[in-house]
Formats: sequence, structure tokens, C-alpha cells
Amino acid sequence: MFKGKNVVLGVSGGIAVYKAVELLRLLTKAGADVHVVMTRNACEFVTPLTFQTLSGNPVHTDLFNLYQEREIDHISLADRADLFILAPATANLVGKIAQGLADDLLTTSVMATKAPVLVVPAMNTNMYQNPIYQRNEKILVENGYHVLEPASGALACGWEGQGKLPDPEVIFETAINVLTPKDLLGCTLLVTAGPTREEIDPVRYISNYSSGKMGFAIAAAARRRGGQVVLVAGPSTLAVPEGVRCLPVFTAEEMRTAVFNHLENVDVVIKAAAVADYRSADRSVHKMKKNAEQLTLTLERNPDILAEIGEQKGNRVLVGFAAETERLLAHAAEKLKKKNLDLIVANDITRQGAGFDVDTNIVRFLHADGQVEELELMPKAEVANRLLDRVATLWKLRRLSSQP
Ligand code: PMT
Repeated sequence: MFKGKNVVLGVSGGIAVYKAVELLRLLTKAGADVHVVMTRNACEFVTPLTFQTLSGNPVHTDLFNLYQEREIDHISLADRADLFILAPATANLVGKIAQGLADDLLTTSVMATKAPVLVVPAMNTNMYQNPIYQRNEKILVENGYHVLEPASGALACGWEGQGKLPDPEVIFETAINVLTPKDLLGCTLLVTAGPTREEIDPVRYISNYSSGKMGFAIAAAARRRGGQVVLVAGPSTLAVPEGVRCLPVFTAEEMRTAVFNHLENVDVVIKAAAVADYRSADRSVHKMKKNAEQLTLTLERNPDILAEIGEQKGNRVLVGFAAETERLLAHAAEKLKKKNLDLIVANDITRQGAGFDVDTNIVRFLHADGQVEELELMPKAEVANRLLDRVATLWKLRRLSSQP
């Protein structure tokens, strides 16, 4: 998301300036070219040298520094930016921008930019609640600025309440949100993730190694892109992504019920879950005892949820996954056809960095028209976005074709 992006990080004076250093680290690590602009007061808390060393760029501190003006003036800072982040933004900075005052490098750059601006206020809780501050913040929001509200807790000034700068990771995530095009606005997606768990007795079950990482990454990315997301998730320790409605399930039967309860209003179904194909035919009510030398379990077939959806697909975009250990393309192509899918994501789980319980994946997209795309090793979050690029196109085409 940040690769090749120009980010201006505007830092104004407050105790939370040290957190902006960590935010800068996250941004540069993600590939952003970050130019830091500090107000005079910010320099009292952390030296420009710290930001300079971590950004690899000169830090801009003074509008009338002639050398810096020659190198990169406030207009080119404003013009070249893909995103402005103001963190921490003091009441003074918010007030100046809201009133159209531009009396230093930071405020002039913000006023001159056409890039999205993310404002992250941090201040004493009484200042934050002050109606004058609130009015200024409202002016920013009404004028298209993005505001990430401060967190609550013990403040450096001794007060307790709302006013803390959110954690750098939260600011970073919000910045990704701001930059992400909302190409799934108006689309409802149902995503399944994780394993299912089929009980044999009260202490044992049949399952698989799915962690939920792939499906959760798809749900998070789809939400970021403006989609309404219902996530039907088998047992997983992962945190539910912000804004995603999660329906936890255990068994394949429960997953089927949750999916069909929501299918009617869904435009896109993405089934990343690793559903157990079989369940115990005679689940024991009590813990089974080890009396015999051998034990034979009778298993019965679980419903094939995706195949069932394929039979009543309607206008929906339908995406499946296939985790294979051999004949990847042949097996995936067979599932694509048999389950009436638009696209199947094939992962060869014998390859390192692919498949179950890792943060990366190596996949191929098989399209219904026979086209095959091969993707290199990449984080699951990136696989999710590449997949959603295809899904967004299919969904838009479907919508167009269904219009009278
Ligand atoms: O969760 P992670 O640790 O991140 O791992 C990700 C993953 C490897 C689980 C994921 O990328 C993946 O490949 N999921 C599909 C696993 C699989 O092998 O599915 P399958 O070949 O059994 O089924 C094919 C498709 O039908 C899948 O979309 C599956 O959700 C669906 N299916 C399968 C059986 C069944 N009874 N009902 C179904 O809906």
C-alpha cells in the first residue's frame, strides 16, 4: 500500500511526539517515502535528527529556511504528497487549520495540499472536550479531513480521559484505510475462514491446520475497500477486523447454517475456510475409554457448502479456495467447474510459505474462462487485495449486466 507513496508526517508539539517516531518507522518499513515537518514546539520534545535519521530525508522545521526552501518548498511538499498525517495534532494546530491560518511551514503545507489529510489529535482531556476545540475539529471533518479520535486513558498531564494519541499501529492502519480506494462500496461480501471442528467425543475432534489468516485477511481488506463484510469463522485465535461482522462457528453444519442464513443479501461469497469433509457418524456423549487395541471410527460426509451455493448462485460472484498437495491445477480446475465458481484460488501447500498457518501464500487464480494467473510469494494481506481486485471487477460487471 505504501510502496512508492509520498507521505508528509506533520508533527506538532506535545508529549506524544515520541509515538510519531514509531509511526515513522512503520511507514518507512512499509515502503513510504516520508517527509517530516515539525513545528517549533515539536522540536522541544524530540530532536529533528531522530526523524531525519529514521526517514532518510531532511526534516523541515522552518518556513523561512532559505536552503530548505530551495531544496523542497512548502508547495512541492504539498503537491508531491499522496497523504498528510498530522500526529500528534495539537488543539493549536487543529484550530489554525480550521480557521485558515497558515503561519508556519506545517500549516502552509496542509493548506496547500490536495492530498488526503489524516488528523490525529492528542491533548489534555478538558481541552479536547472544550466546545471551541470540538467546533474546530468539526470544521475539519466537514471539509473532508479524516480525523482519528484520541484514545482514552491516563494522560501525561495527570488527568484521566480521552485525549491520548492512539497507538502508532492504529494510526498506521487508519492511514491505510484513508489511502485505500473504496471500490467495494455498496457490495456485501460473505467470507468464510478457518477450520471446522467435528467432535468425536467431549474431548476429541477432527479438524485441520487452518488458522483463519487467509480468510481474516480477505475480510479486513474487503472492509477497508468499503464492502459490508460478514465473516463466518471456524475456531481461530485471530482478532476480528474492525468493522467486520463475525459469526463464530465450530462445525461444518453450523457453518452451512450461518452461510445460508445470510446468503440472500450477499453479492460475493469467498470461501477460504478449510471445511472438514467428514464428521463422526456416532459422536459419543461421554469421553471414550481406551478398552480395545484398535478403534474404528465411522465417518459420514459433511455438506459441501460451496457446491450447494453454486447450485443457487444467481447473480453472485462465487470464489473458492483449493489447498492441494499434488496436481494443483487439475484439482483446482475440477472444483472450479463442479462448484460453479467464477474463480478459484489454488495454493500448493507443499511449498514453503504457502497454505496453512503462515503469514504468506503462493497462489494461482483460475478463472472460469480458463485464464490462469500465477502470483509470487507474498503476504496474505497482499493476496487478499489482488483477489479483491478481480472480485471488484466481476462484481461491477455483474451489476451492470443486471441493470434493465
Ligand atoms: O487459514 P489459513 O491458515 O490462513 O490457511 C489458508 C487455507 C490454506 C485454509 C486456504 O488458503 C485454503 O486453501 N482453503 C481451502 C482449503 C481446501 O482445501 O478446501 P477444499 O479443497 O476442501 O474445498 C474447496 C472449496 O470448497 C473451499 O473453498 C472450501 O471452503 C469449500 N468447501 C469444502 C468442503 C465442504 N464441505 N464445504 C465447502 O464449502
